Amino acid sequence: MKPDRDMAQTMVIFGASGDLASRKLIPALYQLECKKRLDCPLRVVGVSRTPMADEQWRNKLGETTKKFAGTAFDHASWEAFAPSIHYFSGDVDKLEMFGNLDAYLQSLEGGNESGRLYYLSTSPTLYPVIIRHLGRSGMADSSRGVRRVIIEKPFGSNLESARQLNQEVHASFDEDQVFRIDHYLGKETVNNVLVLRFGNTIFEPIWNRNYIGNIQITAHEEVLVGHRAAFYEKAGVFRDMFQNHLLQLLTFATMEPPDHFDADAVRDEKVKVLRAIRAMTPDEVVANTLRGQYRSYRDEPGVDPLSRTATYAAVRLMIDNWRWKDVPIYLRSGKGMSCRTTQIVVQFRRPPHMMFDHGKTPSMFEANRLLIQIQPAEGIQIYFQTKVPDTDMQMRQSEFKFNFRDSYQGDLPDAYQRLLLDALSGDASLFARNDEVETAWQIIDPIRRVWDDFLTTDPDCYEISSWGPSSANDWIRQWGHEWFDLCPVLR
Ligand code: BG6
Repeated sequence: MKPDRDMAQTMVIFGASGDLASRKLIPALYQLECKKRLDCPLRVVGVSRTPMADEQWRNKLGETTKKFAGTAFDHASWEAFAPSIHYFSGDVDKLEMFGNLDAYLQSLEGGNESGRLYYLSTSPTLYPVIIRHLGRSGMADSSRGVRRVIIEKPFGSNLESARQLNQEVHASFDEDQVFRIDHYLGKETVNNVLVLRFGNTIFEPIWNRNYIGNIQITAHEEVLVGHRAAFYEKAGVFRDMFQNHLLQLLTFATMEPPDHFDADAVRDEKVKVLRAIRAMTPDEVVANTLRGQYRSYRDEPGVDPLSRTATYAAVRLMIDNWRWKDVPIYLRSGKGMSCRTTQIVVQFRRPPHMMFDHGKTPSMFEANRLLIQIQPAEGIQIYFQTKVPDTDMQMRQSEFKFNFRDSYQGDLPDAYQRLLLDALSGDASLFARNDEVETAWQIIDPIRRVWDDFLTTDPDCYEISSWGPSSANDWIRQWGHEWFDLCPVLR
């Protein structure tokens, strides 16, 4: 059931005192309100254990929104938005708290039918109990109005826990009420991958094994683990970045065109391509993956001095279908890298025969390359050969450039704006479905098991501000490929 345009909605944020609410959720809602993008009046209710009055929470959020919304912040608009924010203190472990919360929400709703969106941004260990209590207290019952739930990542820590969580979710909510969030799917440039592929005619005919030699998907960050050791020691880069963000980028880059852009059609195609990823034996895992750890990681507060947690990883995956057979898809991500860059590099094959530049073998030419810069220099570059003027037939690589910031005015909206808007209107196209999350864990788990249970060596050490361990270069060269390592130029 979709809320009418005029029907008010209430977004209930569990984990209201956490970082996500103040850094992302409230600034995103505030900006949507300023841009008049919300279809109907919205009320926000934060739930957390700490006792706090509405006014106290509003003041705190005013400060943080000013900081995180940047130039979009305007004092008068904030003052107009703030009264729609409320706070309810309670312990999610207690079922009776949900009865009280429900009564409180009804009093705010004033007896009018109102859609509700529950946002779970607590510690993931609390997700099952919150979901169970929402169900038992009747708060998930959609016969009382639209009831939806957004579940933050991580969705489980392996296949088994993801399945259990899905079962728990489905005991209280139907799948079409559930929105599993991966903020990468809300990024404009990630959505632009679909437009590039399926909104144009010139790319799709060559988007296959006949023309493409390999694809490299990179999500590098300069930041270190810092105060997140408690989480990171268990998650490592593989659970933190690969199971969700990198596999999502992979699906957008490699899936078949859906018939139309709706939640089921898009997600069917994503699941299909994930299922086509070739399973690896333990020996193949050892050969097709690489782990790294930045030099000072073990000195970070809260990190085991003998920790083998990977802060960098590279993985070579194969997709066993007609389009991608034998085209390696390299995924890599690291913390403490020389620059922040998330990019998809589509490396085309070399021309089969060279008539120019005698003396060079085909392997000495740089083949065509399509570079999709997801962030921070959002744009696309196409590399191709040109003739150097006033020479015989010498060639040099040149590029076409497209940059979002040059072509469109204004800042690119934060991913949460798009995702919250979609969830409020019930569009789940950019959220992960239950089978998608489980299939992703099916890919991740066997690799993680080999790393955790069989490998007795430490991850390869790398210096902060590098492109990861130097072994990563030899690793990719064994298959005749080279990483495309170039920090984006920011203007
Ligand atoms: C989060 C990870 O999901 O994504 C973080 O937990 C990571 O470790 C972050 O830093 C990266 O997101 P973005 O949008 O900055 O690329």
